[in-house]
Amino acid sequence: MSLRHFLTTQDWSRAELDALLDQAVAFKHSRFGQQLAGKSIALLFFNPSMRTRTSFELGAHQLGGHAVVLAPGKDAWPIEFDLGTVMDGDTEEHVSEVARVLSRYVDLIGVRAFPKFQDWSVDREDRVIKAFAKYATVPVINLETITHPCQELAHVMALREKFGNLDKKKYVLTWTYHPKPLNTAVANSALLIATRFGMDVTLLCPTPEYVLDERYMELARQNVAESGGSLRVSHDIEDSYRGADIVYAKSWGALPYFGRWQDEAPIRQSHKHFIVDEAKMALTNNGVFSHCLPLRRNIKATDAVMDSPACIAIDEAENRLHVQKAVMAALARHTP
Ligand code: CP
Repeated sequence: MSLRHFLTTQDWSRAELDALLDQAVAFKHSRFGQQLAGKSIALLFFNPSMRTRTSFELGAHQLGGHAVVLAPGKDAWPIEFDLGTVMDGDTEEHVSEVARVLSRYVDLIGVRAFPKFQDWSVDREDRVIKAFAKYATVPVINLETITHPCQELAHVMALREKFGNLDKKKYVLTWTYHPKPLNTAVANSALLIATRFGMDVTLLCPTPEYVLDERYMELARQNVAESGGSLRVSHDIEDSYRGADIVYAKSWGALPYFGRWQDEAPIRQSHKHFIVDEAKMALTNNGVFSHCLPLRRNIKATDAVMDSPACIAIDEAENRLHVQKAVMAALARHTP
């Protein structure tokens, strides 16, 4: 049997995603189980985390398993990913050994590895998690790289709790200002999951330079062809918000400016008015607002929006726990 990973929701059929979401709902009602009894997961964080780390550690514990958290380069040896490198620099061991050794210890491996933000043509290859998937002999779970599939499941679970069927819901993924250029992972993921579940999706961003990588735009177009949803890009705030059922906010750096962020900063800074505020939400169809968190208040969204009944970001964050337990349980079923 070939090894099953959870690297992207695109590798999982709609029926499989529905089954994961059904299992997550069951875990929300009954938190404890033995699906991971005697099993363990290594969680490798190359970048900071609050929600992902906490929810995976607790999730493994609640299912009778054990989680080991490692921060390579901090509390574990720095890892080399290139092949053929003469390792006379900072790295102490190769991913080939790390992935295979961990596979002898644990039943699952989770990896968080953000882009380096220097060269998108390199970052978009997602080399770190692909290397773990190549060398590991146990399933690998994406904890956020250039997509964030666990966030996708938690997001769609929260939307289903609110709306039930999501077909043809008017969904706006809006870019928002942030003082730093951020990862496009959650934005890519929002496009993938919203189009997968048949929603009418608007990608609202300041200029064409903020449109997401063509790989994800194309996958989203393929998704709508199958799901019956739709996809459009807009730079018109009022038109995008009007009648929306769902507003999902995220900030990200413009791809053409990778490695020369000083040139992108003035564009970003001139679009602070993309903040999600009460006036914009008033244009929606009594819509809900969400964000993956962490969120800088009064930069990405106002206090009033964050504290309003429309905000379901806390529900989405809670759902990380439930969906990840469903993912771990599903993958662990296929390990000895
Ligand atoms: N949304 C999310 O992944 O949160 P953390 O970065 O805190 O894990």
